[in-house]
Amino acid sequence: MRKKVTVVGAGQVGGSCARRLAERDYADIVLIDIVEGLPQGKALDILQAAPIVNYDSDIIGTNDYADTAGSDLVVITSGSPRKPGMSRDDLLAVNQKVITAVTGEIVKHSPDCIIIVVTNPVDAMTQLAWKVSGFPTNRVVGQGGVLDSARYRTFLAQELGVSMRDITGYVLGGHGDQMVPLPRYTSVSGKPITDFIAPDRLEEIIQRTRDGGAEIVNLLKLGSAYEAPGAALVEMIDAILLDQKRVLPCAAYLEGEYGISGVYVGVLIQLGAGGVEQIVDLDLTAAESALLNQSADAVRELVDVMGI
Ligand code: 2OP
Repeated sequence: MRKKVTVVGAGQVGGSCARRLAERDYADIVLIDIVEGLPQGKALDILQAAPIVNYDSDIIGTNDYADTAGSDLVVITSGSPRKPGMSRDDLLAVNQKVITAVTGEIVKHSPDCIIIVVTNPVDAMTQLAWKVSGFPTNRVVGQGGVLDSARYRTFLAQELGVSMRDITGYVLGGHGDQMVPLPRYTSVSGKPITDFIAPDRLEEIIQRTRDGGAEIVNLLKLGSAYEAPGAALVEMIDAILLDQKRVLPCAAYLEGEYGISGVYVGVLIQLGAGGVEQIVDLDLTAAESALLNQSADAVRELVDVMGI
């Protein structure tokens, strides 16, 4: 039997995620939203591309959580996106209500699922979903670092004129202004990035990565990025449902790793059929560790504001 994936939120990120996942051809998909007609229309549109693109994934759109019952994996994309001038943190209050309601419904209908959260501010929203769900921490994970690392790798590949595939690099920390790109763990076909790019230029690229989401919000004006976020989600879904045991930067609950406890923040994890199967403890310098701790503190502040 095919795996069942529910995508909550039929907006741009949800639509991109559902379409890319359908094209992977191993899961059936339920797209759900409170807006009547929107998930049904998007699902039908994606389904009608199947004979052209060649997939047999079934996809339905619905407004009824009963249709999501028994999902193996649920992706939460719902909530308000940023508008120009807004930070991800400005979305806290409005999206807290959405994530609380959505998570309650998910748990009721799919008590054994793994949840991936992408709604912003994502680290805090992941912590909220975990709290509301009552799930063990391995079954609730947030997407931020895969996207941030992809942006970082894109800019580096463009700078050097090499294939994106040959750049390895990680961005840890919260998915916000205090994200933590790690030049020491960035390489081009195994060679340190610092052999190719001068420190000042590398810092500019790191800053562009930190501002990567805002750059797109300012260009689009009416919403935020969705193609790369959708692709990042599907990389995580593949890792879980195909039990790939990928090592990816994602928001995971820390209990002492990196000297951080009691908060979701972006770190390297092993992602497989068990969800978060392992936190990968990278060796960080004192300076890198301080940045990661600052980033975790910023997430903790949001968690405190939510009172959870
Ligand atoms: C971004 O960075 C939407 O947070 C997302 O583009």
